Amino acid sequence: MNAPFGPVAIVTGSAKGIGLSVATELAARGYRVVISDINGDDAEVATKGLEGAIAIPCDVRDETQVRALVDATVAHHGRLDLMVPNAGIGLVAPILETDLAAWRQVTAVNLDGVFLALRWAAPAILASGGGSIVNIASVSGTTGTPLIASYAAAKAAVINLTKTAAMELRPHGIRVNAVLPGFIGTDLVTDAAPDFERHLGLPSGGFGEVIEAKQGRFGVPDDVARAVAFLADPDQTWVTGSAFTLDGGLTAALV
Ligand SMILES: NC(=O)c1ccc[n+]([C@@H]2O[C@H](COP(=O)([O-])OP(=O)(O)OC[C@H]3O[C@@H](n4cnc5c(N)ncnc54)[C@H](O)[C@@H]3O)[C@@H](O)[C@H]2O)c1
Repeated sequence: MNAPFGPVAIVTGSAKGIGLSVATELAARGYRVVISDINGDDAEVATKGLEGAIAIPCDVRDETQVRALVDATVAHHGRLDLMVPNAGIGLVAPILETDLAAWRQVTAVNLDGVFLALRWAAPAILASGGGSIVNIASVSGTTGTPLIASYAAAKAAVINLTKTAAMELRPHGIRVNAVLPGFIGTDLVTDAAPDFERHLGLPSGGFGEVIEAKQGRFGVPDDVARAVAFLADPDQTWVTGSAFTLDGGLTAALV
């Protein structure tokens, strides 16, 4: 595909981690990518080396900013084909130690942020003749996951939102899918590991060992990026409402 005339994608929270890998994969496939992040400086740096990429800062919790992100993308590129609501944060805390403010912090980014991205991207994608939305959920949205109740509940809601939106938007030529990764070796997990270890009584490094044993290995951001690219591929005309698990078998086994 020719970059200046390729399809246009927004990836939220893409200054680093999985989002940056998704943006890189899409750019390699000819998308003109908008790297969007609450951290505008890092988003700007992340565009370097990605042909056709631009940076637009956006806090996905703020509806005005999300609308402005979509408007600025369409003003710059004239269209929008793909939205990847990827921005997310974590919180490791038992339910009995989680206060409402902390719960709302997590759900504001991980659920409200996905709703807002989908809500305001869809009309722009529709105006561009159809396209798709690929939400970044998690396997924690399908299983009880001790210590991350707010995160897991938000991801479960994202999976349901994916399916409901897929049905509502199908008549408009917009496919909506979700990827459900297991544990990927990004800052999100590295930063959370000591809290898991403290609550679970594991030695330093013990959380990583448990995850590697259950998954075969840690996932890497490129694992997720390739799955997003597959679901977004316009050739996948019949793939909508799906929740695609990639976790090395983590959730396939009972023990
Ligand atoms: N790492 C994993 O194991 C894993 C597994 C399953 C799903 N996920 C999901 O993948 C997504 C990306 O996670 P990651 O591991 O790359 O995390 P990360 O911490 O490496 O990157 C998250 C990015 O989101 C940005 N961000 C945070 N709050 C934001 C906001 N309010 N508005 C805009 N941007 C914001 C951060 O600045 C950062 O660039 C998240 O939705 C996460 O829940 C991660």
